[in-house]
Amino acid sequence: MTATTNVDGTNTHRASDDDVLVRVTDLVKHFPVHSGSLRGTREHVHAVDGVSLTIRRGQTLGLVGETGCGKSTLARCVTRLLEPTSGTIEFDGQDVTKLSRRALQPFRRQVQMIFQDPFGSLNPRRRVGSIIADPLVIHGMSDGGDRKSRRRLVQETMELVGLNPEHYNRFPSEFSGGQRQRIGVARALILRPKLIVCDEPVSALDVSIQAQIINLLADLQKEFGLTYLFIAHDLSVVRHVSDDVAVMYLGTVIEQAGGSDLYNKSRHPYARALLSAVPIPDPATAHTRQRIILTGDVPSPISPPSGCRFHPRCPKNDGRLCVNDAPLLVPRLSDPPSHRAACHYPVGDDEVLASAIPSAALATPDELPTGGAT
Ligand SMILES: Nc1ncnc2c1ncn2[C@@H]1O[C@H](COP(=O)(O)OP(=O)(O)O)[C@@H](O)[C@H]1O
Ligand code: SF4
Ligand SMILES: [Mg+2]
Repeated sequence: MTATTNVDGTNTHRASDDDVLVRVTDLVKHFPVHSGSLRGTREHVHAVDGVSLTIRRGQTLGLVGETGCGKSTLARCVTRLLEPTSGTIEFDGQDVTKLSRRALQPFRRQVQMIFQDPFGSLNPRRRVGSIIADPLVIHGMSDGGDRKSRRRLVQETMELVGLNPEHYNRFPSEFSGGQRQRIGVARALILRPKLIVCDEPVSALDVSIQAQIINLLADLQKEFGLTYLFIAHDLSVVRHVSDDVAVMYLGTVIEQAGGSDLYNKSRHPYARALLSAVPIPDPATAHTRQRIILTGDVPSPISPPSGCRFHPRCPKNDGRLCVNDAPLLVPRLSDPPSHRAACHYPVGDDEVLASAIPSAALATPDELPTGGAT
């Protein structure tokens, strides 16, 4: 790791470039939408609003957050299926943000996606063998059209993901939900990419099948040295697969840490609230978990709240700093550089957030801090 000093005087600890496969810096994606009220007025959905994160080689970054917080948009920008509004995406040391379609081809071979819906993402009228072979054909890597060798590679890949290679000529409808997701995994794996972006790959599956797919992804990671961006709306799913976890809220990353740091001492009240909903398997300790119920709805990404975007729902909102100043994503309290949280009043190790009284109710205006407390 190396430390660089930012213009605002804070230090950013950059993992050395050798370790990093993907580096996203200040990524913004706004979608123009027509407002219904005033004719001709254009508003913007702030789907992703200044996200910076890194994904280390051969590791898994889990990305979690409620539906609509911008996870898929971020994923589609990282894979360059969407053009970012601003910011940069570096892949394997190369800035791929502005590359033309043609110049993107080598990148596209290295980056594949697995989607949430194993039913909707497979064309029901095509045989699985040809679905899995699609990336080979698209990238002109089907050995000069040699059908035999393409078929052999597809069948090898089917075997790797736990599908019977003899089912090459079957249609997606002849497979169960879990098997269909294996078809999606095979299609992503066939080019032996460096990065696979898994966008809620198990959210549509039964819990028992979820574990099988997660185990499969973990085995493939070991075998092929794959790097994953693994998206879920549920922290309990990413827990078992992620080396690092980033939590998103309304288009921004509000906390990022090594998996165990995030689970054991999250600093951001929103991350704490999400964690409080994760079931504890051990009944002896489960009763000690205090569930934090968030009040209010997620605000509209068309006009996100000022200051800290979480302030309208936060039990620690001070009514002043939180409302006016967006907190930086930096290490808080005595956390290591790899653990960063965007909160003026980070949750202490022994603090019980469920009984938090808003800071505004505790402090007189003179006592309120004037800068981001760490
Ligand atoms: N093509 C689009 N046009 C307009 N708004 C969009 C588009 N795609 C996504 N959005 C909006 O961007 C926000 C983030 O969406 P998304 O990235 O799909 O979130 P998530 O994957 O976390 O559920 C949502 O408010 C969604 O409605
Ligand atoms: S900055 Fe303030 S409103 Fe935002 S999460 Fe922290 S305490 Fe809550
Ligand atoms: Mg999504």
